[in-house]
Amino acid sequence: MKKWDLKKTEKIDKNELEYDINAPIRTLSAGEIVRQAREQEELYRFSDNAFPDDVDSRGKDAILKVRHLSLGFLSHGKKTHVIRDVSIDVFQGETLAIVGESGSGKSVFTKTFTGMLDSNGFIDGGSIEFGGKDLAKLKTEKDWLGIRGKRISTIFQDPMTSLNPLLTIGFQITEVLRLHRGMDKKTAKAEAIELLRRVRIPEAEKRFNDFPYQYSGGMRQRVVIAIALACNPEILICDEPTTALDVTVQAQIIKLIKDLQREYKWTVIFITHDLGVVANIADRVAVMYGGQIVEYGTAEDVFYNPAHPYTWALLSSLPQLGSKEDPLVYIRGNPPSFIEEIIGDSFAPRNEYSLKIDFILDPPMFKISDTHFAKTWLLDKRAPAVEPPKIIQNLRQRMQESADELKRELKVGEAK
Ligand SMILES: Nc1ncnc2c1ncn2[C@@H]1O[C@H](COP(=O)(O)OP(=O)(O)OP(=O)(O)O)[C@@H](O)[C@H]1O
Ligand SMILES: [Mg+2]
Repeated sequence: MKKWDLKKTEKIDKNELEYDINAPIRTLSAGEIVRQAREQEELYRFSDNAFPDDVDSRGKDAILKVRHLSLGFLSHGKKTHVIRDVSIDVFQGETLAIVGESGSGKSVFTKTFTGMLDSNGFIDGGSIEFGGKDLAKLKTEKDWLGIRGKRISTIFQDPMTSLNPLLTIGFQITEVLRLHRGMDKKTAKAEAIELLRRVRIPEAEKRFNDFPYQYSGGMRQRVVIAIALACNPEILICDEPTTALDVTVQAQIIKLIKDLQREYKWTVIFITHDLGVVANIADRVAVMYGGQIVEYGTAEDVFYNPAHPYTWALLSSLPQLGSKEDPLVYIRGNPPSFIEEIIGDSFAPRNEYSLKIDFILDPPMFKISDTHFAKTWLLDKRAPAVEPPKIIQNLRQRMQESADELKRELKVGEAK
């Protein structure tokens, strides 16, 4: 597979990307800027930039297809635009990780797959194709019946979001089995105990009648996973399921999800801040910034051949890369406002590699390989050659070391 090699990008004069705009950019209307940019018709010949195909290069089928999705909230009488024109496919049986800084829209984006947007939220464009339906068009609770919890389930960071503190663990699992799988009381109880065993709750029979407060945080998260198992969904969304747990328990939960996924052939969407977790679990990675997916590809593509300056910055801040000599990298400035109209590339003001065009036109998704896409003008053939920061160039070796550490951590955990 041919990959885009940034180092080999033809070096050309940066000025070629500059426009002949006589008036300063700030005095022009957005429409005028775009009109002038369009005159540079060459920029619009992106024959091979692309939207994802129905079947990816690995021959897997897309089970969920998001196209041009946009959504916002009504907040204090103002409309915000939180997700802006996002398209991506989720493939059967894969683990897709979504990463990006806090507030980039990871949770809100995936909440649209189960109709769980807050009541002031609204989808104002695009589609989410799943099981022959457009989920973006579903409105009422009745519409979502049979999908939310049944075909697409979510595990949240705080297990108490999903558990009722006043009901026993056993009751909460049996209720799901009776409702979704039509079991009678006795069969449901036996199955619930079996599920508790599967998620490795010790003395499952005894703990069946406990209340959530009698379980530790890690055990509660296992119960939530057992409830997901009870429904056996096609897609499991894990929204930072391990963030609140300590490292050892975190490693165990991740291993559990991985094991169950293999057994049940779930498709998993895993949201996390922790790129170490991503390296451990993901087949593919999507990087979100300011309500857009700015890069996506296989984990290999995104970790070892990242193309977007935001991904570079994100990877540079990996604790695994920290050393005494190099201070931890941080991304200067603030994320874009969701209220104001964004002109150009929303990362431009924070991007030390930004080109003039970044402040004028939002870049398209450039195709780097059959699996790898990134939304940055640096991939335009006329952009100057830019190398990713040195610190991320030996990422492979450092990630291996950190994966070994996680494995050791797991062994210690099992021994306890
Ligand atoms: N009900 C709401 N009303 C108004 N704005 C909202 C609402 N829910 C979310 N938002 C805004 O949407 C944006 C994206 O939020 P989201 O929770 O998806 O971020 P995130 O990437 O999941 O962040 P984190 O990593 O902190 O969980 C944020 O700016 C948030 O303030
Ligand atoms: Mg979130």
